[in-house]
Amino acid sequence: MPAADLSTAALLSDGITSTPPSFVRSILKAASDPSITSFAGGLPNPISFPQEQLLESMQRVVAERGADAFQYSATAGIEELRQWVAARINQRFGTNYTADDVLITTGSQQVLDLLGKVLLNEGDGVIVEKPTYLAAIQAFALQRPRFHEVELTSEGLDIEGLERALDAGAKMVYLIPNFQNPTGLTYTADARCQVREALSGRNVVVVEDDPYGELRFEGDSLPYIGGAALPHGLVMGSFSKTVTPGFRMGYAITKDHELLHAMNTAKEAADLHTNVFGQFAILDYLTHHDLDEHLIKIRNLYREQAKAMTDAMEEFFPDGVTFTKPEGGMFLWVTLPEGMFSMELFPKALERGVAFVPGDPFYAQPGTRNTLRLNFTNADAETIRDGIRRLGQVIAESFLQ
Ligand SMILES: Cc1ncc(COP(=O)(O)O)c(C=O)c1O
Repeated sequence: MPAADLSTAALLSDGITSTPPSFVRSILKAASDPSITSFAGGLPNPISFPQEQLLESMQRVVAERGADAFQYSATAGIEELRQWVAARINQRFGTNYTADDVLITTGSQQVLDLLGKVLLNEGDGVIVEKPTYLAAIQAFALQRPRFHEVELTSEGLDIEGLERALDAGAKMVYLIPNFQNPTGLTYTADARCQVREALSGRNVVVVEDDPYGELRFEGDSLPYIGGAALPHGLVMGSFSKTVTPGFRMGYAITKDHELLHAMNTAKEAADLHTNVFGQFAILDYLTHHDLDEHLIKIRNLYREQAKAMTDAMEEFFPDGVTFTKPEGGMFLWVTLPEGMFSMELFPKALERGVAFVPGDPFYAQPGTRNTLRLNFTNADAETIRDGIRRLGQVIAESFLQ
């Protein structure tokens, strides 16, 4: 009798074995040493956590909601929070969403997981930006789809590439139109129209992931590409970057109720409903305080930090290195000259006390890249300048080798 295979590996599903590991977690570990200036994380600045107000809200929830705050609840989320989400988007964009169009989720990350589960069979096409949010690649990869990457441009998306990918067949298009993670790029108004045109008449779910939309520190906010204007348009959002990520509070909003119903069923199977105490606490915070006032503080801080980073890059980065200048959000993107690999630069930068995320994990197709992501929201202006100076030195030295 052949020896039995008693390994765990033999038991794991095809879905999980084809899902890339969380590369960022290992990078973050390397960068967690306090002597390292880390531009690698993706954490909001703690200024965005209104701790005292949330404490008051939690106390009020216990006093006013009583047992309801501790009981099982509806999968869709509590009605008043769904109403708040619909009203906020209507106020910003002149849409006519209602509470029935909203699903409250355990972080907006759960929307990605649910979309993968309800839309994708093995081999189905998913169109993503090149590069894209690495945990979206992970969430979809569990279903073993075919990824079609479409090149991001400084204005939006390569439309011919998008048309080609749509012609090849796809069930979902996943886009991050505002201050994209990882690049910091934003689609212009014209680019949004072009993408909308390319998508209209196609039977495809159009997902716009917008956790950073309210963190615009330059220019005016722009309408969604699809949203309610496309039959299968879905927008996903989050309270992680505006109030707190720890509560894990996100949402999907769409007029496609068949899709929403399917997601509701998948959510029921996943976790029954989102933490109800957290939903009441966030709702209480939002109804007793002016979110816009709070957001002004975050935007002012992030604008200053982004400027400190781009000013330092202009001063210290050698010619031939390019970078984006975000109008909001938390990240910017650096492109090194052809032939340089950011993965090789990483250990050298770490030796000099600076960390970043190499571009590699942000692409759906594996490969070695000359790009890297920098987070600007977690250090003061002086630390940013000093970190960028050191990173500039490491890049310049690599030029010489
Ligand atoms: C583009 C994008 N989508 C979704 C998420 C998930 O956010 P959360 O689950 O905290 O709402 C993030 C988090 O960084 C992100 O950058």
